[in-house]
Amino acid sequence: MQDIKQFIETNRQRFLDELFGLIRIPSISSEEKHKPDMVKAADYWAQLLLKAGADKVELMPTTGNPIVYGEKIINPGLPVVLVYGHYDVMPVDPVDLWNSQPFEPEIRDGKIFARGADDDKGQSFIHAKAFEYLAQNNTLPCNVKFMIEGEEEIGSAALAAWCVEKKEMLSADVILVSDTMMVGPDTPSITCGLRGIAYLEVEVTGASRDLHSGIFGGAVANPINILAQMIASLHDAKGRVTVKGFYDDVTALSEAGRAELNKAPFDLNKYRQSLDINELCGEDGYTTLERTGIRPTLDVCGIWGGYTGEGAKTVIPSKAYAKISMRLVANQDHEKIARLFTEHFLSIAPDCVKVKVTNLHGGQAYVSPTDSTAFRAAAKALETVFGKRPIPVYSGGSIPIIATFERVLGIKSILMGFGLDSDAIHSPNENFPLSSLFNGIETVVHFYENFARMMKG
Ligand code: BES
Ligand code: MN
Ligand code: MN
Repeated sequence: MQDIKQFIETNRQRFLDELFGLIRIPSISSEEKHKPDMVKAADYWAQLLLKAGADKVELMPTTGNPIVYGEKIINPGLPVVLVYGHYDVMPVDPVDLWNSQPFEPEIRDGKIFARGADDDKGQSFIHAKAFEYLAQNNTLPCNVKFMIEGEEEIGSAALAAWCVEKKEMLSADVILVSDTMMVGPDTPSITCGLRGIAYLEVEVTGASRDLHSGIFGGAVANPINILAQMIASLHDAKGRVTVKGFYDDVTALSEAGRAELNKAPFDLNKYRQSLDINELCGEDGYTTLERTGIRPTLDVCGIWGGYTGEGAKTVIPSKAYAKISMRLVANQDHEKIARLFTEHFLSIAPDCVKVKVTNLHGGQAYVSPTDSTAFRAAAKALETVFGKRPIPVYSGGSIPIIATFERVLGIKSILMGFGLDSDAIHSPNENFPLSSLFNGIETVVHFYENFARMMKG
């Protein structure tokens, strides 16, 4: 029998061909015109799992995009690992900033460049191949279930409802997820915190139609001016969010916890340089790791209105819009925060405009225990492959369904991600190093072996 390193070496080209096939399907969940691609990507996953050796694979229809479910139950007495991933990807705009076509993967400098190369096609593909290795060699040490969804980037609404319905089918000892980052290419980590999110859209209306800015300018509210003022007032001089009650439920980390968190390797200068910024900016009194890991935030993700075409047009627009996301931390409830934001935003609106607030989606934060069997199995697997003990980290990103898994299924997740900050997920030129892909496959194989052994006692 080949060991996992040999297996990867022998099958390297085939793995890349298969992953590239998945990446070439432009499965952008937020764009209606890609509906057929969502089914194609789900089908592709079903084939991957079948060929890898799953006993049963199904494309499960939902109110949204299909969920791919697969399993291999070798012995009902053995532990069950449930693998979660997503086949949907973010839009590719601004497309002219890409150095190659977003859906035509290209290898440059040892990295795969394409939308989804990391998030989450590359990362979830790791699990298909680790499973294939163990299934083909009849050395799978535990039962495995797969659930790969197509709506993570738009809030996982269908999956949340589906979990309630399929609770029994999804029973497992742990959920294993690769959709987060490592501290650095040689420094593995396990994510023990994810932020929650509340995402809303606001609409500010002045007059009922666009007006000549000379004839009416000075007498009628300009909704863009007003919206800009309202948004500016959402932070105070100390970088704190001014929404009433915003911080009420935040559980502060103990001083010891903060000290521990700040031990994670972090180079402020490199961080600034990698982003081309002179000075960082955030809430007073907190380090960068704290600002992104354990503090809640509010950001405008988009703002539009008025005339943005060629040349000049003198107009007072009728409407102005913004999309606003708040990242939340442990114990904050996204529904409550959305309500507080809405109340606050309406309360600061001057009478000269009408304001409408729409809640788009939300999800709770997640905190993972660092003393579970699965955590130890993951830590040991990472140490075996990278030669270093992984560092527990708090991530600023969100995977809202992870908290739902805990609430609905009663199962904790292990966030063993292989991405890097430099992978540019959601950005032009998203990429995934081949080393992350192959190290990932090796690590997951060790995870299964460690987990099965440690669960025996
Ligand atoms: N994989 C990311 C989340 C992530 C990235 C977590 C890096 C930790 C480190 C996921 O696909 C994602 O982008 N999530 C969205 C949430 C969603 C509700 C749109 C996010 O964080 O913006
Ligand atoms: Mn993702
Ligand atoms: Mn994403």
